[in-house]
Amino acid sequence: FFSPFDLFKQNDDLYDDEQEGLSEQITIRFSHVVAENTPKGLAAQKFAKLAAEKTEGLVKVEVIPNGTMYTDEEELDALMNNDVQMIAPSVSKMTRLAPEWGLFDLPFLFESNEDITSVISGEIGHKFLKLHEDKEIKGMALWSNGFKQMTSSVGALQHPEDFQGQRFRIMPSFVLEEQFKRLGAVPIAIPYDQLYMTLEENKFEGQENTISNIYSRRLYEYQSHLTLSYHGFLGYAVLMNKDFWDSLPTDVQSSLTEAMDETTTWMIKESLEMNKQQLQELAKESSIDIHYLTNEEKVVWKKKLEPVYQSLLEHVDENFAKEFITQRI
Ligand code: LMR
Repeated sequence: FFSPFDLFKQNDDLYDDEQEGLSEQITIRFSHVVAENTPKGLAAQKFAKLAAEKTEGLVKVEVIPNGTMYTDEEELDALMNNDVQMIAPSVSKMTRLAPEWGLFDLPFLFESNEDITSVISGEIGHKFLKLHEDKEIKGMALWSNGFKQMTSSVGALQHPEDFQGQRFRIMPSFVLEEQFKRLGAVPIAIPYDQLYMTLEENKFEGQENTISNIYSRRLYEYQSHLTLSYHGFLGYAVLMNKDFWDSLPTDVQSSLTEAMDETTTWMIKESLEMNKQQLQELAKESSIDIHYLTNEEKVVWKKKLEPVYQSLLEHVDENFAKEFITQRI
């Protein structure tokens, strides 16, 4: 299997050599929890490459993948303590800091990839990036990994009743919790780095994720059924420690902003491609049973999940939520 990551790796080595001897080098440690060969893993590498290019080697972004240094439970604190300078947690995990992020977890919120792009790169997306400046967190960008799908080790997930009684692994988010409760399932929050192990240990029967995560974490080894439901969104809040950001010279800030904008545009296309390509790999290489949710089934799922919207409004400033939701439906 060809991994585009290999290309970045070679470039990275090149930069290492070129940069030896640069005394005033600025190092940015960028920690994330997924594999290198995923949209987020590749985007982090892309940003590192562009940042080095645009600052002529002054900035070196060290990417630390797979949660090897900080797990998704630890990375927000590590960022606020400036132990790392950049992270890109999922929007769901950001609900720990502000319930507004739960808006992105609403089931069947987005109709298409274009819809996602217009929100994350539009005015509303920008508001989210500014939410945590008081906590010394600078929002750099919102990245998309596209749509989540459902998997299970029990059987095909076609109707809401099929979820009944199954334990579903979720990211910690009150909206995702509500979503699975509405389906009659038992939601259990588990950090990403423990996903494969806990699945192997039978701690849950099902989960939701993008194809790239299902594929790269080899979840298909223990999940016999995949429903292409496109019911949820997986996005990332790309964040930098604000004190660190403020300490950077203005020209470096501009170069990094440019590098981030280019990476974000690239990532939108790349994640689409990767999820498409890895779905083909899954169909070819694994024995997972793939069900395409029909329009009729989708209508039933939507109806069942409608109350999740109402319960979100109990947690989130109503005006903010309305502005967000009315622009989506
Ligand atoms: C998950 O925990 O399933 C995802 O958020 C992992 C990721 O960052 O893509």
